[in-house]
Amino acid sequence: MNLVEFASVTKRYQLGDVEVVALNGVDFQIQPGDFVAITGPSGSGKTTMLNLIGCLDAPSAGELRVMGKTIEALGEQALDQLRSRTFGMIFQNFNLIPVLTAEENVALPLHLHNLSRQDMRQRATEALRAVDLERFATFRPDQLSGGQRQRVAIARALVTRPQLILADEPTASLDTANALSLVELMKRLNSEQGVTFVFSTHDDRLLRHVSRIVELRDGKLTVTHEQTKRTEHGSPSSQTNRYEVM
Ligand SMILES: Nc1ncnc2c1ncn2[C@@H]1O[C@H](COP(=O)(O)OP(=O)(O)O)[C@@H](O)[C@H]1O
Ligand SMILES: [Mg+2]
Repeated sequence: MNLVEFASVTKRYQLGDVEVVALNGVDFQIQPGDFVAITGPSGSGKTTMLNLIGCLDAPSAGELRVMGKTIEALGEQALDQLRSRTFGMIFQNFNLIPVLTAEENVALPLHLHNLSRQDMRQRATEALRAVDLERFATFRPDQLSGGQRQRVAIARALVTRPQLILADEPTASLDTANALSLVELMKRLNSEQGVTFVFSTHDDRLLRHVSRIVELRDGKLTVTHEQTKRTEHGSPSSQTNRYEVM
């Protein structure tokens, strides 16, 4: 089953009297285990597409299905469930809470998940270990480097064991070395733990490390570039085992 399916999805925004067509009839699928980059110049619709995938927004026309369910048919509560159980989000400016430690930041999304304090701590520790930051658990964001902060943001996205992690230009504020090591980390989590990643970037340095690249131009998905190389543990069935299915 596709995790996410766009069928002729169009998204329009009304800006005063002007209508902006941010996405224009997009067809697109994400399968379990994918590692996909959405590229395209500024204003081409990347953020709009990620917001739709993450069910933070709904299409103006066409159909969006997530885990086989048509988004329009879901009520607010079912949508909340879907968002908090299916997706992990990473934002360009990290969005960490300055007064909380790395571990507390990572544990935040778990507050919606009815876990004991001990389970929350254990899950946060596990997620920090996955991004090699276990020994920085008690550090606050201002005590960490930009690259480390972005890894905390990845740990926070991982902690709920989501089906899919969405990252909007996650490397935009990092230097080349940190940007490349962030992509290597995402690739490792993809191949070792089967985490599906969809991220936007207009950073060409990163693209040769990505197995599937789609390109947006003026709201249209113009090029789909599928590299043949798959991850070592590339069978979708082995990659979905770790996750609870809703
Ligand atoms: N909330 C909004 N209201 C009005 N226009 C928007 C809104 N969000 C995005 N747009 C417009 O939609 C187009 C695509 O934007 P966006 O998805 O942010 O592109 P990208 O992330 O590739 O830079 C742009 O023309 C942008 O100005
Ligand atoms: Mg954007």
